[in-house]
Amino acid sequence: MPTNAESSAADLFDMAGKRALVTGASRGIGRAIALEFAARGAVVSAMARTNSDLVETCTRASEMPGSISPVVADLGNPDAIRDGVSQATAELGGLDILVNNAGYDNEQTVQRTTLDEWQRVMDLNLRAVLLLCQEAGPQLLDGGGKVVNVASMFGLVAVRGEAAYTASKHAVIGLTKALALEWARKGVQVNALCPGFVETDMLASATAVEEAAAYMRKATPVGRWAQVEDMTGPAVFLATAASNFMTGQTLVVDGGYTAQ
Ligand SMILES: NC(=O)c1ccc[n+]([C@@H]2O[C@H](COP(=O)([O-])OP(=O)(O)OC[C@H]3O[C@@H](n4cnc5c(N)ncnc54)[C@H](OP(=O)(O)O)[C@@H]3O)[C@@H](O)[C@H]2O)c1
Repeated sequence: MPTNAESSAADLFDMAGKRALVTGASRGIGRAIALEFAARGAVVSAMARTNSDLVETCTRASEMPGSISPVVADLGNPDAIRDGVSQATAELGGLDILVNNAGYDNEQTVQRTTLDEWQRVMDLNLRAVLLLCQEAGPQLLDGGGKVVNVASMFGLVAVRGEAAYTASKHAVIGLTKALALEWARKGVQVNALCPGFVETDMLASATAVEEAAAYMRKATPVGRWAQVEDMTGPAVFLATAASNFMTGQTLVVDGGYTAQ
């Protein structure tokens, strides 16, 4: 791995020809990250369940220097993860960057969380991250790579009424640190990106209610919730040489929420 002193400013954020797999890229934060990578010349596999939405992501990249192709997979299913990673790495001819972004929020208290809901959240938000790292490991370790796990500010602090989600995101940060240590001497950096409130489908039910929307604006020091584009710069940083000496860390992009 070159030190940053050996790289020019332009090299630091260079993504030309980088091969990236982005999960949950059919909409929301994942789609924005996949498009930003393609705009910077990366070749991207966009993974999610809904083919039509993935195709829309790919179409939006058609005029870009890089490209995006779809991989349909239900990340709640270990066999589908295995097949999806092998399809992506075969199509890309290897892998330099893995962005574990797909996630689900069940919005339920500890007392009311059923085992089925707990399992559904853990299978997607946590187990899928483990399996994707395991499956993509050989490719990432072949020449140095980057893992970006999209956790949440609720991986650092709790929120009332989202028990399984909060637990899963805290665990993703733990898994990020564990894997960072294992791969530290192998040239692969593993970090977590922790968004605050971002206006996506995940937050749609909350942003539609003025009282909840007002709370989110008030609770966020900068006075607004984020747009998906607010997450792309930090994702590029964690996916490029600019962050080569950073591993096992959390990059918190929350408009100041956790600074309070
Ligand atoms: N929005 C926020 O305020 C916020 C804040 C902090 C952290 N985050 C985190 O950021 C990440 C992205 O969130 P978002 O707001 O962009 O959510 P979103 O708009 O709901 O998008 C979720 C993405 O995950 C995919 N997905 C869901 N279940 C899947 C499954 N079983 N298999 C494969 N893909 C699946 C969805 O595609 P399909 O439905 O097509 O499968 C979609 O592409 C999540 O990890 C979330 O926890 C979001």
